[in-house]
Amino acid sequence: MFFKYLLSILLAHNLLLSCASAAVHGQHGHSVDTLERDSDGSFRARDYEHYGDSGHNSEFDHEAILGSVREAEEFDKLSPDESKRRLGQLLPKMDLNGDGQIDRQELKQWILKSFINLSREEAQERLLEADDDRDGAVTWSEYLHDSFGVDSEDDVGPDDTGDSGMLLQEEKSMWATADANSDGKLEVDEFEVFTNPEEHEQMHQYLINQTLREKDTNKDGKIDFNEYVGDRGAQQDKGWLISEKDKFDNDLDLNKDGVIDVTEIHAWIIPNNEEIAEEEVDHLFASADDDHDDILTFEEILNHHDVFVGSEATDYGSDLMGDHFDDEL
Ligand SMILES: *[C@@H]1O[C@H](CO)[C@@H](O)[C@H](O)[C@H]1NC(C)=O
Ligand SMILES: *[C@@H]1O[C@H](CO)[C@@H](O)[C@H](O)[C@H]1NC(C)=O
Repeated sequence: MFFKYLLSILLAHNLLLSCASAAVHGQHGHSVDTLERDSDGSFRARDYEHYGDSGHNSEFDHEAILGSVREAEEFDKLSPDESKRRLGQLLPKMDLNGDGQIDRQELKQWILKSFINLSREEAQERLLEADDDRDGAVTWSEYLHDSFGVDSEDDVGPDDTGDSGMLLQEEKSMWATADANSDGKLEVDEFEVFTNPEEHEQMHQYLINQTLREKDTNKDGKIDFNEYVGDRGAQQDKGWLISEKDKFDNDLDLNKDGVIDVTEIHAWIIPNNEEIAEEEVDHLFASADDDHDDILTFEEILNHHDVFVGSEATDYGSDLMGDHFDDEL
């Protein structure tokens, strides 16, 4: 769904504006963290930058295999031989049934585990930023300081939102839910739930409620097209509106009743990691299954180590032609 949406935006831009405008990244009147959220308020999918304005981004492939941004950066500095050698060490771990080949299910399971590892790595980094006293856990007051830039709740206005776009009271409820052992602070596992709420079921209702609070101006529990556009439309041109309408009708309003209900809000704002992992499997198979037998031998994977993990010799420039779009459709 995401790729089709992206493609429709790109096509709309090429046809209507004949330029790669940054309109989709506009942040008009928006309170949400532009690093983690899209301009319409949805959470950015893990593969947000996989196919961007500048073409295919192989960093995403490498992170999906290595499960770590830090390690992916490390691989970019390895010689091709060393990169192959280290990829070779991962393959037996990926090969769950031990038959010396990687099938689609095995690769998908691996990628889903990588996503979990990536979330944990992100949470560890964010925890280091917020954990002023370095005790390995974030207290509510440390979080207030880090996210709202204040020392006391009294300094937060009723409409002020933190990094996540949530009001203080919303954040506080989410904090309590994430604090599984109710000790008032979040250790890394709990902090991971709090900072990546879109990846945890128990947090989804908060995100849906926040979306309704921001967009459902007539408070009927559903979002119509005008509400969906909201004040984002003010400085946009007709091409933008057409592509948003197309997205609303074809990608978001699944049951075609003209509004987005709670189920559809869920599908819209919460990225589907299963789907993303399957798309990544398709992409990697299209890149590496040279004999088209729908299974990857270790040799095929190692021959395409640049796609899977990269090395200092990976030529990122060659990806910028956008030819990988074919893989997905
Ligand atoms: C995830 O992290 C664990 C622990 O560091 C590691 O053993 C495992 O191989 C990693 N898995 C993936 C898929 O990156
Ligand atoms: C979401 O909003 C509904 C309706 O206002 C409310 O009953 C529910 O408790 C809220 N859920 C959460 C998790 O905040």
